[in-house]
Amino acid sequence: MGKKKKRDYEAEGPNDPSLANGASQSSEKQRKKKSKKTEDVKSPANEMPTVSIAVPGSIIDNAQSLELATRLAGQVARAAAIFRIDEIVVVDNKSISEDTSTETVLNNSDENESGAAFLLRILTYLETPQYLRKDLFPKHNSLRFVGLLSPLDAPHHLRKHEWCSYREGITRKNPDGGSVGTLVDVGLSKNIVVNEVVEAGKRVTVAMGTNRNTDRDQPRKIVSPSTPRKEGMYWGYRVRYASNISSLFKNSPYKGGYDHRIGTSEHGLVINSSELSLPPFRHLLIAFGGLAGLEECVEEDENLKGKTVGDIFDSYLNTCPHQGSRTIRTEEAIFISLQYFQEPINRVSTKYQHVD
Ligand SMILES: C[S@@+](CC[C@H](N)C(=O)[O-])C[C@H]1O[C@@H](n2cnc3c(N)ncnc32)[C@H](O)[C@@H]1O
Repeated sequence: MGKKKKRDYEAEGPNDPSLANGASQSSEKQRKKKSKKTEDVKSPANEMPTVSIAVPGSIIDNAQSLELATRLAGQVARAAAIFRIDEIVVVDNKSISEDTSTETVLNNSDENESGAAFLLRILTYLETPQYLRKDLFPKHNSLRFVGLLSPLDAPHHLRKHEWCSYREGITRKNPDGGSVGTLVDVGLSKNIVVNEVVEAGKRVTVAMGTNRNTDRDQPRKIVSPSTPRKEGMYWGYRVRYASNISSLFKNSPYKGGYDHRIGTSEHGLVINSSELSLPPFRHLLIAFGGLAGLEECVEEDENLKGKTVGDIFDSYLNTCPHQGSRTIRTEEAIFISLQYFQEPINRVSTKYQHVD
C-alpha cells in the first residue's frame, strides 16, 4: 500500500472558523503524529475494515414517553442495519470513567434504567434474530413497546423456510445427557447438532453448509460471529457500553483501537462527500453527540481535561451544511451522516480489496 497522501479535508476551510481553526492549529502536532500512525496501517487483504458509530445514551433521556424512547432507539438500530454498521457504542455521560461491562448493564433488572442502559437493551434486542429473543431476553419494563418497531430484517434474521450458509442459534441441553456434540436451535423446525460441547443457553453462529439434512448424523460447526462477515455478508452489529467519551476509545474491542476517528457537528468542516478522502483504515469510528453536542461531552469528561474535539478526533465534519432547521436531532444526523460517509467509506474498502 502506498504512503498516505495529505488528507483532502485538511486543505478545506472550516465552516465555523472559531472552532475548526482552533481545533486544527492547536492539535497540528498531534495530527502529524496520527497521520504517521495511519501511514503504518497495513491491513491484510482478507481483513475487511469495520465501521463503528458512537451514540449518546442521553438522547433517550429527552424522549417524553417510554413509547417515544423505544421508537427513537428503533431508528438508531434501523440506521445501523441499513448502513451495515459493525459496532454501536452507547456512550453514557459519567464524568469519571467506570469499567462497567455491557453485560452488567444488560443484566440489571431495574425498571427505570438510564437512557444509556435503555438504548443498549433495545439495540441488542433488535439485533437478535426473533427466534432467539424469548430465550435471551427476560421480561423487562424497557421492552414493553418493542413490538411496535420495524424489524431490522438483516440477513441473519432468517425465517424457518430460508436456508443460509450460516445461522445464529442458541445451545440447548442434550436430552440424552451425552457429551458428544451439542444441540442448537437455529430457528429451523428441528434442532441441529454441532461437534463442539457448549453449555446450554449460549448464542452461537453455526456454519450450515449446503446440505439441508438436519439429522444428527450431519453435525455442523460453530464459527466466530465474524466469519459470515469475512464472506461479505452483513451479520448485524455488536453493541457496547462506554461510560463516557474516554472509555469509548479506551475500551475498543479492536486490537490497536479505532485508527480513524470522526466527530460530527454543525460546527465541523464542510466538505462535499464526493471530495472527502478517508485514509486507509481498519477500524473507523464515527461519533455523534447529544443535545449539547460532542464538544460538551468532551468538556464533561474528567479524563479529557484541557482537550478539545480537535485533539480527540482526526476530523470534525458537518455532514449537512445549510440546514433549514436550527437543530438536527441526533437520530436524524445518524441517517444523514451515514449516507454522507457511504461513498468515502466504499472508496477505501474497494482500495483494500487490491492490497496484497
Ligand atoms: C442536536 S445536535 C447538537 C447540536 C449542538 N449545538 C452541537 O454543537 O453539535 C446532536 C448531534 O447531531 C449531529 N449533528 C447535528 N447537526 C449536524 C450537522 N450539520 N453535521 C453533522 N452532524 C450534525 C452531531 O453529532 C450533534 O452532536
